[in-house]
Amino acid sequence: MTQPATILVTGSSGQVGFELKRALALHGCLICPDRGQFDLSQPATLTAALDTWQPGIIVNPAAYTAVDRAEDEPALAHAINAEAVAVLARWAAANNALLVHYSTDYVFDGSKDGAWCEDDAANPQSVYGQSKWLGEEAIRHAGCRHFILRTSWVAGVYGQNFLKTMLRLAASRDSLAVVADQFGAPTPASLLADVAANLVTRCQIHADQPYGTYHVAAQGRTNWHEYASFVIALARDAGWPLALADAPRAIASRDYLQKAARPANSSLDCSKLMQSFGLNLPQWQDSVRQLFQTIDNARKL
Ligand SMILES: NC(=O)c1ccc[n+]([C@@H]2O[C@H](COP(=O)([O-])OP(=O)(O)OC[C@H]3O[C@@H](n4cnc5c(N)ncnc54)[C@H](OP(=O)(O)O)[C@@H]3O)[C@@H](O)[C@H]2O)c1
Repeated sequence: MTQPATILVTGSSGQVGFELKRALALHGCLICPDRGQFDLSQPATLTAALDTWQPGIIVNPAAYTAVDRAEDEPALAHAINAEAVAVLARWAAANNALLVHYSTDYVFDGSKDGAWCEDDAANPQSVYGQSKWLGEEAIRHAGCRHFILRTSWVAGVYGQNFLKTMLRLAASRDSLAVVADQFGAPTPASLLADVAANLVTRCQIHADQPYGTYHVAAQGRTNWHEYASFVIALARDAGWPLALADAPRAIASRDYLQKAARPANSSLDCSKLMQSFGLNLPQWQDSVRQLFQTIDNARKL
């Protein structure tokens, strides 16, 4: 009889981690430690836990994701996003485990005209982006079987994100200004978990896979202002009592100062993933509509 795999899922209290618990449940016995049990800010402590749990698959959505705060806490961001990832990757290499890791559009500087491809040169502009890039590099250097899934603008039902912030602000404020000169695509946390589950399934059937780095995002391109306007229109149509009378005002990034630099263009070319695995990624509007419907339904319970 085939034994179910042991799958370690880090960061299961986060947006993507929460969805991974659902998406991976059929694929093996899940170990989902909280940060008290498996603290990525203490990389030297991780090997002992890995030796105890012996996961055949490690899925790592955990990260230091506070992009602005990272500018003031570079050592902590690097410990969690780079040094701990290096420990996971080295352990995976030594124990023939599969590592599925999430990374970010912030490894790019945003200067490209078109969508970013996996092999485009990284040039992170923030401490967060730099730490995530070093985490990626550590995985490639360790040589374990891995998928690095680079994504952008994650939004889920569970956890904090831009979509939920816009709904909250539209309910409480009579005016709202949103940046209109940063482009990308909102990506559902559930999609990121489903892609990981699909890749894990393939590896469970056959270990010989085109491992490596892939971009995963909803299709199409928008900016934060258009995205906010779209979500708020959905809420208005659904009868939410909004304090915001009009659509949000469009502003430039230079009029909304943030500590960490953001890429002007975060669009990710996902054709490598779609062609390699025959996967279909949804349009961002469909993803956002579905996510909004889930939030709206939960509100009516
Ligand atoms: N959010 C985005 O817009 C975005 C965009 C591009 C890429 N990504 C990448 O996608 C992945 C998933 O993002 P997400 O939005 O799901 O993140 P998230 O909601 O911020 O969740 C982060 C998770 O990491 C855990 N974590 C943080 N520090 C930890 C530590 N020291 N030890 C153990 N766990 C720790 C958190 O646990 P606690 O609950 O204890 O804090 C939480 O479960 C990350 O790799 C991120 O870099 C995210």
